[in-house]
Amino acid sequence: MFKLKPLSGVVSTLCATAILATPAVADQMPPEKSLAGLNYELIGRDDLWSYKSLSKYNEAPFLSELVAAGKLPKVEDRLPAEPLVHNSGVMSDGVGTYGGVFRHVIGGRPEGFNWLAGQHQGWGGINMAVQECLVRQGPRWQVKPEDQTGPLPNLAKSWEWNSDMTELTMHLVEGVKWSDGDAFDTEDIAFWYNDNVEDPNVNARISQGSFGGGAKLEVIDAHTFKFVFPAAQSNTLVEGLAYIQGCPGPSHILKESHPKYNSAKTYDDYLNAAPSDKMPVVGLGAWIPVEHKPDEIVILRRNPFYWKVDDKGNQLPYINEMHFKLTTWDDRTTQAVAGTGDWSNMENPGNFVEALKQSQDASSPVSAKFGPRTLAWRIELNFAQNMGKDEYEKELRGLFRNIDFRKAMSHSIDRDAVGQALARGPFAYPYMGGYATGSPYYNADSTSYTPFDQAKAGELLAGLGLKDTDGNGVLNMPGTGQDLVIDMTYKAQRNDDRKQMDAVTSQLAEVGIRVLPKSVDETSFDPMRNSGDFTAILQRANFILPTREACGNLPVSDICPAFHLSGSEGRELMPFEAELSELVSSFNSTDDAGKQTEHANRMQQLLTENVYNVGLVQVPAALLVNKRVRNAHPGTPVFMYEWAEDGVIRERLWVPEDQQMAELLPGTVPTYQ
Ligand code: GLA
Repeated sequence: MFKLKPLSGVVSTLCATAILATPAVADQMPPEKSLAGLNYELIGRDDLWSYKSLSKYNEAPFLSELVAAGKLPKVEDRLPAEPLVHNSGVMSDGVGTYGGVFRHVIGGRPEGFNWLAGQHQGWGGINMAVQECLVRQGPRWQVKPEDQTGPLPNLAKSWEWNSDMTELTMHLVEGVKWSDGDAFDTEDIAFWYNDNVEDPNVNARISQGSFGGGAKLEVIDAHTFKFVFPAAQSNTLVEGLAYIQGCPGPSHILKESHPKYNSAKTYDDYLNAAPSDKMPVVGLGAWIPVEHKPDEIVILRRNPFYWKVDDKGNQLPYINEMHFKLTTWDDRTTQAVAGTGDWSNMENPGNFVEALKQSQDASSPVSAKFGPRTLAWRIELNFAQNMGKDEYEKELRGLFRNIDFRKAMSHSIDRDAVGQALARGPFAYPYMGGYATGSPYYNADSTSYTPFDQAKAGELLAGLGLKDTDGNGVLNMPGTGQDLVIDMTYKAQRNDDRKQMDAVTSQLAEVGIRVLPKSVDETSFDPMRNSGDFTAILQRANFILPTREACGNLPVSDICPAFHLSGSEGRELMPFEAELSELVSSFNSTDDAGKQTEHANRMQQLLTENVYNVGLVQVPAALLVNKRVRNAHPGTPVFMYEWAEDGVIRERLWVPEDQQMAELLPGTVPTYQ
């Protein structure tokens, strides 16, 4: 039965089972050597935070000046009656002091601030800074296994089920305000769910009809609402209301641009209702963007209406200003190591050796410890045959739908060579799709291994009638007779993706498959992928939990995953896809850890035996946080229940006064009503 252990423990147990257990699948995964070195104490889920009223509240001194000048309501009037109270006993460095700057560096660019319509803000922790969600997943890495059912509370302070598990009633924290002072309540919840999630014209992060098989929302009062489900669910389903799915937006700002409320507006207008250059943003997050210089920086300032405090009554966050320098993902690591940035999820193997070397030095601004392998890359082949734009593309997608073709591709890939192209050394381990080995749901025995074997690949391709009829070294397709050429899209800004693309392109060429790499700017990448307008994609997989971004990985609705959209003519699911979809529902409808493990194992078996995606390699990652920053718990994994920017609980981070950096916009707060 699955039990989450400290990360290093998880990995060593997995290695042991990989060697001892009888294989359930044809080819067994090679033994894995862990590089993980994180160790930490596990705590109870209620040890992290609670909701209660305290006798006295404090605020950042510059806010008191604004209050005194009549420019801001008093802190007790800005806070909920019972705010979320962070327990200082579980903070690694305890209660903090106010002030200073936290410097992020990211490779993404804000697409826009209408996250309800699916827009991203550039990733790397900026989305998570402005969005707050009904529940929270990131900090669960620290919670004891026996306390692990469902997510942690956040905007929803509690919830309960009816006896047959078909109705979920959620209670919002009362008195939370948006960063402009407007009340946050069930009007925002109704707008989020009914006019975004359930509106087929809006590309929300939960797709229409997919939450609990098509839950209906009922508003009970200003702070209470209910989901009514067509069939029994479980607490596990509530995980789907964490970042990035269950995060309400400001209905008082967005409604006027939504066609349902304003007939003069189109859905395009709605998508662009909060463009990336319109400042300040209105959000519920600890910091709010107040200035955006394209390709340079987004500056966020503390949200004076933030609804969380520490147990001494200090309104959070401690840090006044947060920067997102807009450069590249590689630069994030370079700057963290150099001390000009404060944070990197060191996930770019190309930098590993140098960064590790430099961080060994006692005077280095950061130290680095690896977690388990949770970063994996894969090729996504587009299975939507009837959406192919011409005969050639239809034939190609038909091939993709054939298991022998997918197996042939997988056998053509020399994963050791791909790994070495990324970084010399022991970092990379083969990835077959499905859960990465660092996932609590990974099971080596359920993972089907398709090793590098060009001869086998050749046989499978010949069996499909693919032959090089014109002697140009590229196989010809049996139907159209054309060369087998796969346009493969990747993110232009991701060097590690490009390196793998180069390796894969030359490896596939050796069996007669020609790959044409196409780079797409990261900002337009997601809309492109969501539209299904691509032949194949090479990108990172982010597959750790079945409940996290399920739509990106699994056939949970007509528009999920993007590599198998339904289109106007509907879609023909491959048989194992139908079973996968049922497994997701079964997983979501039980809280029994043993049953969940069974479902997860079966998913892993189906995903890897059928080569749903062509996995490439997986690597560990290390979190780099500047040493002047306190409360960055040293056990924080880069990616587990959520990315580390959520897992580390940034609203609790602080910097001793003598090490604080000068703010760019001292005294500034986002505007309020
Ligand atoms: C990007 C980065 C990750 C992480 C996430 C957060 O994907 O590559 O390391 O910062 O953003 O959303």
